[in-house]
Amino acid sequence: MLLHSLKTNWLRVAVHLGAWIPVAIIIWDALTNQLGAEPIREIILRTGKTALVLLVLSLACTPANTLLGFKPALKVRRALGLYAFFYALAHLTTFVGIDYLFDVALLADAILEKPYALVGAAAFLVLLPLALTSTKASMKRLGQMWNKLHRAVYLAAILVIVHFVWLVKLDVREPLIFGAIVALLLALRINFIRRFIAHWRSRMSNPQSRASLTRKINFPTDAKEHG
Ligand code: HEM
Repeated sequence: MLLHSLKTNWLRVAVHLGAWIPVAIIIWDALTNQLGAEPIREIILRTGKTALVLLVLSLACTPANTLLGFKPALKVRRALGLYAFFYALAHLTTFVGIDYLFDVALLADAILEKPYALVGAAAFLVLLPLALTSTKASMKRLGQMWNKLHRAVYLAAILVIVHFVWLVKLDVREPLIFGAIVALLLALRINFIRRFIAHWRSRMSNPQSRASLTRKINFPTDAKEHG
């Protein structure tokens, strides 16, 4: 019984366990003094990075189903999005509450000095209504509007990339790699690219057309000569 449930829900189990690992490591490192010379900054960096990774994974779920036929991905999309939001909330709370002790004057100065924080705030404000309407009841209540609203997750991801590129001082390779992944996931939503991949997949899964495709790829000149 348990084995059967694990077999069918392995991805869910992996997501729920995996999403808690970064917070467990942060707590462990805090308790054992392993957060370095600037522990609060370290927590801000780690929670921000985890939020971004989970956000990107949640964006990858739909293409994993539509393009690769990997259906279980759809079952974990909402959980990944919600975990991304909770890490973003922890990131924001550490910055505003622990680093700046909710001191509005200090925060205003910090934002003048770190304008990228405003872009982070914009990303958070886009994520907030998505998290609040992630329940099945909201989905039912909002109908078609729900899909439209939840497309804003791409806007949030773009804002986070801008936030990341802006805050990095020298080596922008890492934020740009994340940016390229988000751009690719966005491109996969474009209709003609989706249709092209679906067509290619159906040809590859059909042995006859795969053979003809392989012949065309391997012997293009022969095909012309004999044809
Ligand atoms: C009000 C909202 C936000 C504020 C005030 C904020 C502020 C910050 C600050 C102060 C840093 C550290 C910069 C440094 O010391 O070098 C940072 C880094 C970062 N933030 Fe945010 N942020 C916000 C929202 C977000 C959101 C919503 C996400 C993702 C979903 C995010 C992702 C990141 C990432 C990926 C980093 C860099 C981590 C690294 O370099 O390893 N931030 N943010």
